[in-house]
Amino acid sequence: MLLTLRVQGTRYSLRTGNCSRSRWLASNAVVEKSPPPAQPQLEVNGSTYATDSWTNVTPKILSYLGANKHLQKDHPLSIIRQRIVNYFYGAYRNQRGNPLFSVYDKLNPVVTVQQNFDNLLIPSDHVSRQKSDCYYINKHQLLRAHTTAHQVELISGGLDNFLVVGEVYRRDEIDSTHYPVFHQADAVRVVTKDKLFERNPGLELFEETWKGSLADPKLILPSSKCMDQTKQPCHTLEAVKLMEHEMKHVLVGLTKELFGPRIKYRWVETYFPFTQPSWELEIYFKNNWLEVLGCGIMRHEILQQSGVHQSIGYAFGVGLERLAMVLFDIPDIRLFWSNDSGFLSQFSEKDLHNLPKYKPISHYPQCTNDLSFWLPSDVEVDAGFSPNDFYDLVRTVAGDIVEQISLVDKFKHPKTGKSSVCFRIVYRHMERTLTQAEVNDIHKQIANASVDSFNVQIR
Ligand code: PHE
Repeated sequence: MLLTLRVQGTRYSLRTGNCSRSRWLASNAVVEKSPPPAQPQLEVNGSTYATDSWTNVTPKILSYLGANKHLQKDHPLSIIRQRIVNYFYGAYRNQRGNPLFSVYDKLNPVVTVQQNFDNLLIPSDHVSRQKSDCYYINKHQLLRAHTTAHQVELISGGLDNFLVVGEVYRRDEIDSTHYPVFHQADAVRVVTKDKLFERNPGLELFEETWKGSLADPKLILPSSKCMDQTKQPCHTLEAVKLMEHEMKHVLVGLTKELFGPRIKYRWVETYFPFTQPSWELEIYFKNNWLEVLGCGIMRHEILQQSGVHQSIGYAFGVGLERLAMVLFDIPDIRLFWSNDSGFLSQFSEKDLHNLPKYKPISHYPQCTNDLSFWLPSDVEVDAGFSPNDFYDLVRTVAGDIVEQISLVDKFKHPKTGKSSVCFRIVYRHMERTLTQAEVNDIHKQIANASVDSFNVQIR
């Protein structure tokens, strides 16, 4: 049961660690009410932040900050990070033979709405901004939902070839391939005309008509929904094609270095607000096409905002858990958070290229319990009650012993007009057998916490 893409009827459920077509294509704003925060201030990573009606980070989520699994010795995520970084060090070198790319793997995951969304031209009503999808500290700050959030600050600081690696936070469903914290690597490469056309000095990066206005902020295009997969209006076709060729060559090289030279892959056109044209790279794995990364030619407006007017860039982002699950055959995303030596001792970075297949520590039994409740009057699923709020509550109360949750039933009572929901919760401990009494106790705590938090009535 590994990494099959299950669409569970939600708009954005297709991701296992990274970018999904459905997530970025969808666009509908949902305004949600939420209870006022209990405390006016929050301490995160040593800094104090004001809270407001947008605050939805939980103590459980904040406890992941600084865990840095991608830097933990012998951890599978750290092994994947090192392999990606080493590949880029080798793929691009300067004239002295030194790596061209610099790596940022300890950037603060607390970012502004501007960094995570506005700078990347993500429309103001885009679904990915919703409170039900992100962990907000307050209206202006959140835990980054992708490592792409650091693009503008790094390019503005003068960098042109860099990798960002770190954990990202997204509110989502609970199953073996989703966890509210996972890891991404993002890369940017920006080149000048002289560099790109080293061997064809007669060619141009920009269309003649745009040349005079490349630095003019008025010319930022309202092309956030532009699906033209050929090129952005300001670029020449030659520039885009050459950049596309280089990017795809490097990314196929990375895929082959990770999965072996015989891996079957394909490019799929897609949409991201921050790149145009955009693609996803899929690999054929266990009889399925599996999306492993998203990439594209950077929107010129992003470079322009960063003070870079005469260059063109490519960017990509990849989810580390998904790569690690495939490479090591790790069946459950919760295992990346396990401190069990039975798990951790299986991986060693001494030989980065010896990738052992994960051997299950053992199979402990699952225990399934349903929880049904009536929502308050006038509240419905996705109109006042978001399943993601419930999933967070479950994570806070029960932690990692919950393996899956699914919304198995919802209906509206014809007379009272009240909505009822039923969630199926599958409990399974990773390291031991749970007793029925223990599960019943946690299940009861979840029920009580639901009554307190959502004002529901248990059925
Ligand atoms: N940030 C995107 C995601 O998380 C991935 C991406 C990065 C796509 C950079 C294109 C360029 O879904």
